Amino acid sequence: MSKKRIMADNVILTGFMGTGKSTVGRLLAKKLSYQFVDLDELIVAREDLSIRDIFDSKGEPYFRNVESVVLRDVLQQHHMVIATGGGAVLSEENRKFMEQSGLVVNLLASPEEIAQRLVMDTERPLLLSGNKMDSIISLLQERECCYALADFRIDTTGKSVEEIVVLIIAHIEQGVKCETF
Ligand code: S3P
Repeated sequence: MSKKRIMADNVILTGFMGTGKSTVGRLLAKKLSYQFVDLDELIVAREDLSIRDIFDSKGEPYFRNVESVVLRDVLQQHHMVIATGGGAVLSEENRKFMEQSGLVVNLLASPEEIAQRLVMDTERPLLLSGNKMDSIISLLQERECCYALADFRIDTTGKSVEEIVVLIIAHIEQGVKCETF
């Protein structure tokens, strides 16, 4: 693939937990010959603590602050595919930086599919207390307005990673914006 056909400096993947941002991002980066980064992995390395431990010992506001700092750093670079954490879109400032530095692609999945994908997960602090399905539904509702601001959206439900990557590349090349596929 010729890099000239890629319209975006960076490709920023947003979406709820379990929508496949990291898996899709890794393959997408390979196909585009871009570098892949997972924002949560950078945060864990920087803090030398797991995401769960950061939430437990320092609290969510501290995590959100580090998330914003790390995001801003990464967005200074070029030709990156960035998998953001599911809550990175909540900050208006984060969204502004994302919009300015690349193409924002939002990955969607149904609440049922998300619950299924995260059934064994014990590392997402926001889904550890109370009923997991209820938390997924209410967080999705709360965040929909932020996810919807992406340049384009892809419903990953029932699609393979390869299919999703092909769709993203096709839409990057066509420059299609503000639609759900
Ligand atoms: C979060 C999503 C997680 C992680 C943290 C908070 C969220 O990342 O950043 O647990 O608020 O949705 P993933 O979306 O990669 O699971």
